[in-house]
Amino acid sequence: PGKLFQFKLVLLGESAVGKSRLVLLYVIVLPITIEIILDSYLFIFIYVGDLNDILVLRFVKDQFDDYRESTIGAAFLTQTINLDESTTVKFEIWDTAGQERYKSLAPMYYRNANCAVVVYDITQASSLDKAKTWVKELQRQADPNIVIALAGNKSDLSARRAIDSEARTYASDTGLLFFETSAKTASNVNELFTSIARQMPLE
Ligand code: GTP
Ligand code: MG
Repeated sequence: PGKLFQFKLVLLGESAVGKSRLVLLYVIVLPITIEIILDSYLFIFIYVGDLNDILVLRFVKDQFDDYRESTIGAAFLTQTINLDESTTVKFEIWDTAGQERYKSLAPMYYRNANCAVVVYDITQASSLDKAKTWVKELQRQADPNIVIALAGNKSDLSARRAIDSEARTYASDTGLLFFETSAKTASNVNELFTSIARQMPLE
């Protein structure tokens, strides 16, 4: 019989860098799951076969609220990975809202987090500055043992790249895991989460 390890993971980063797309891709596509959730909202995720066809339906009580692009408050999802025959890791994932007006909610989600994915958009230089601000805040306020990964998302848009090797250098100087990902092509998405799982204390 194997062991199950459970960890809280928080996603942070500027609005529109792709946090929700990454997590939906990871949770829904690899493998297909449907998880339902929180805060008096019922979320239903339906994967229809393409990035642009992931529908997020949100219900409040019995009212149907329109699909919204930007996360409101935060969303909660879970994903389980079998690292080997005897080790299973379950992530409880908090996908936070990047819009400035939700900033004060973030401590609630990172306070008990065991790991964090700080996301920026490789085509937006300002989003890396914002990511560095999140890393500093985590280093000051979160659990001292938190495992932090920096993810440069939208790697499929390399023609519009604004951030190069500086991010990898910053991550290695700061002791962060580092991946360039794409929620569109799924590049490195599985690798990102698996590498975090392997970094966690599994004993
Ligand atoms: P907030 O919820 O406001 O914090 O934003 P977010 O970080 O969750 O961004 P979201 O996942 O909603 O993505 C924002 C936009 O970027 C959407 O239109 C996505 O389709 C697009 N997007 C996300 N990831 C990628 C990617 O890897 N490549 C490309 N080309 N577009 C992406
Ligand atoms: Mg979002």
